[in-house]
Amino acid sequence: MAILRPSVVSPTRPTVKTEAVYARGMESIVLFGPPGAGKGTQAQRIMDSTGLPQVSTGDMLRAAVSAGTPTGIEAKKYMDAGQLVPDQVIIDLIKDRIKEPDAKKGVMFDGFPRTVPQAEALADITTVSHVISIEVPDERIVDRICGRYTCAVCGAVYHDSFKPTSKDGTCDSCGGNEFKRRADDNAETVMSRLEAYHNQTSPLADWYDSKGIFHVINGDRAINLITNDILDALK
Ligand code: AP5
Repeated sequence: MAILRPSVVSPTRPTVKTEAVYARGMESIVLFGPPGAGKGTQAQRIMDSTGLPQVSTGDMLRAAVSAGTPTGIEAKKYMDAGQLVPDQVIIDLIKDRIKEPDAKKGVMFDGFPRTVPQAEALADITTVSHVISIEVPDERIVDRICGRYTCAVCGAVYHDSFKPTSKDGTCDSCGGNEFKRRADDNAETVMSRLEAYHNQTSPLADWYDSKGIFHVINGDRAINLITNDILDALK
């Protein structure tokens, strides 16, 4: 797999501006890890290098909740409680998303699959070439999640202490000046989300490891070091 390493990886720019060099058939990447591990942060940084669009089931569900669709209404009660949304709802969303023109060469899944049935369904939809597991100890997760905010215009991810905007109140990526916080980013819900991760999602590590496509990345380090290791793993 040919991946162009960005010459400069700035910790303040979410998207690495390089020419996409991902010439291949339909193969997808999975970004795997606990809530707050940095999946979304890293997806934004490696999107251009991989040439694959980020497909975040969390973002898709939040859009459905905002739009008040039947899927959103169904999903909201699980999301508010920090529980996983039922598999069939998620699989239906992914089946529709994968038909979009930008998904023709594969996608970069962020937060999907999270259960064995979801992984089995994915195997029928697309080939997964790499599962990148970003590992962060539980004790770091609450601080990360409770300090998170995102640009309301472009979705760039920031943190009150670990990754603030360079200029107060202005998005580094698009210059927007409206930001938002997620309803489920509170200490109580985080504990349920971690429990769901350990009980329902982490068993997938063995499933993918047995296929020889599972790459463990230490996510408890500076953001740009993690990006470099992910790009190395994707080579
Ligand atoms: P989702 O939106 O997918 O949330 P999540 O998996 O809990 O992951 P997060 O988005 O919280 O974290 P992240 O790993 O992307 O971290 P980020 O880069 O933002 O899912 C939400 C809910 O939707 C679920 O609870 C569930 O109900 C439902 N759902 C979604 N998908 C589903 C599925 N497939 N099946 C069933 N239900 C599903 O980083 C976090 C913070 O840390 C940021 O502030 C960032 O700036 C900071 N940060 C990042 N990296 C570093 C670093 N190296 N050092 C210091 N700070 C860092």
